[in-house]
Amino acid sequence: MQKPAPFTPAERAAIERVFVERKSVRAFSGEPVARETVEHILDVAARAPSGTNMQPWRAHVVTGAVKDRLSATILAALKETGGARAEAEYKYYPDQFFEPYLTRRRKVGFDMYGLLGIERGDKAAMMAQGAQNYLFFGAPIGIIFTIDRKLEIGSWLDFGYFLQAVSIAARANGLETCSQAAFAAFHKTVRAELALDASEIVVCGMSLGRADWSAKVNALETTRASARDFATFRGFE
Ligand SMILES: Cc1cc2nc3c(=O)[nH]c(=O)nc-3n(C[C@H](O)[C@H](O)[C@H](O)COP(=O)(O)O)c2cc1C
Repeated sequence: MQKPAPFTPAERAAIERVFVERKSVRAFSGEPVARETVEHILDVAARAPSGTNMQPWRAHVVTGAVKDRLSATILAALKETGGARAEAEYKYYPDQFFEPYLTRRRKVGFDMYGLLGIERGDKAAMMAQGAQNYLFFGAPIGIIFTIDRKLEIGSWLDFGYFLQAVSIAARANGLETCSQAAFAAFHKTVRAELALDASEIVVCGMSLGRADWSAKVNALETTRASARDFATFRGFE
């Protein structure tokens, strides 16, 4: 490719908007999304960089009856365990949360339940909301992302670039997403249902579709620490 053309101010504003306005959507309209659109989004996202261009990502895209069956099987497994989540094959969170992460994590939970009118301590309502994960929040498309278990932590770093790229490419196409580690806890069910190879680890799931902006849960706004808080700058003055 030739040297890329510089962005116009309008293009720059649009590119920044697609990042800054991205948010996890937890209620979708259910309007179908064509396979070509999903394929296009994944092709765009696959331009993500990866160490030595290994491209460690794999995506299992489900819709219609296949998605509904996956949802039903996971919900049945969830019911069987009385809501207790099985162990994922990898550890996302530490056993003990600590600051500043504990406060941030609590805030997003309280804010979401607050919007939904769920009282603190109402475990049944929280569980019902959590179960929505497995219905892909009503999205027409579900994606299960997997990685070869022989790969190392560096490839998981690459995977993060790719996942963000999927969310951003989706937005550029008028669609929204929610990344969902919730699926990793049901890797056994997902593995059986989608006949995943034993070499693959379920990294996470993702809901993809048009947002239902009238849903209360989608009013959730999350905050971020600013670069001034998390970055140090040296040698500038
Ligand atoms: C890898 C990953 C896994 C996530 N898993 C879940 C999940 O299982 N369920 C859920 O509702 N949100 C999940 N989230 C969404 C986060 O809660 C969300 O990104 C965070 O609160 C920031 O909000 P925002 O995405 O709206 O900016 C996940 C996000 C990431 C990046």
